Amino acid sequence: MTADDIIVEIHCLEHTYTGGVRVDLCGTDFRVTRGQRVAVLGPNGSGKSTLLKHILGILQPTKGKVVVFGEDPARHYNHVRQKIGAVMQNADEQLIGPTVFDDIAFAPLNFGFSREETRTRVEEMLHALDIGHLRERLPHYLSGGEKRKVALAGALVFGPELLILDEPLEGVDYTSRQEITAFLHKLHADTGMTMISTMHDMDLVCDLADEGYIMQSGGRIDLHGRIVDLFFHHDLAQYNLAPPPLAQLVTRLNAHGLHLPLTLDVEVLAEVLGRR
Ligand SMILES: Nc1ncnc2c1ncn2[C@@H]1O[C@H](COP(=O)(O)OP(=O)(O)OP(=O)(O)O)[C@@H](O)[C@H]1O
Ligand SMILES: [Mg+2]
Repeated sequence: MTADDIIVEIHCLEHTYTGGVRVDLCGTDFRVTRGQRVAVLGPNGSGKSTLLKHILGILQPTKGKVVVFGEDPARHYNHVRQKIGAVMQNADEQLIGPTVFDDIAFAPLNFGFSREETRTRVEEMLHALDIGHLRERLPHYLSGGEKRKVALAGALVFGPELLILDEPLEGVDYTSRQEITAFLHKLHADTGMTMISTMHDMDLVCDLADEGYIMQSGGRIDLHGRIVDLFFHHDLAQYNLAPPPLAQLVTRLNAHGLHLPLTLDVEVLAEVLGRR
């Protein structure tokens, strides 16, 4: 691994918001290398969105160190932001164009892509996310799920190296969720794009991340490990988290002496149980 492979490094970050709310994210260092899919998990208000906003350079730390692509993202905002696509928790804050098409075209035009190149890329994203029918709509009046798809298109259209997803599938219906998850899977398989996401749905964590960082309420990054290890080897109740039902079932069946593999893969478990 070379220094170029380290995409994000955060050490003992502390942020005090105007008004005095202090988010202390000290604890385990946060480090993401190229190609990793990392989930940031923890209770409401623990500071997950705050952490992501520091990676994006939207916030400046009160204390501690944030390095993204080798630079301080708050200081070199314009440079670093051209490498990061982001879907923020509040999609409304992110949608700015008068139409969906203009909205998705905003970043590439801003980053100096030609009109023609931008048009081609926007069309590709509309097609990939199956939102071509929304092209001329006003972003403001889209449904919650539609807004998230448009925000995702806008995040990916300029070909970022890092994708940040803050609760990307909140309010998205089952079918769209499956489609977006499959889309992100393929994106990672095809391009090896680095992804950092937050979510409260643990089934989704299994789909979208290989590693996780878990935060205590009040901040502090407490645990780091492979998702499968976090779900099978740690008591997550203190972090307001419950392992997905499949992990709970395997743990209980093993307590009854079944010796099942510690996996979150339904196919693998079905195969093992079927053989028995
Ligand atoms: N702009 C702000 N001004 C003041 N306080 C803020 C601001 N944004 C967040 N906070 C506070 O900082 C703390 C961390 O908030 P943050 O949004 O990072 O939490 P979170 O882990 O993302 O929560 P959730 O799971 O609800 O999305 C909370 O106490 C929140 O109230
Ligand atoms: Mg949040």
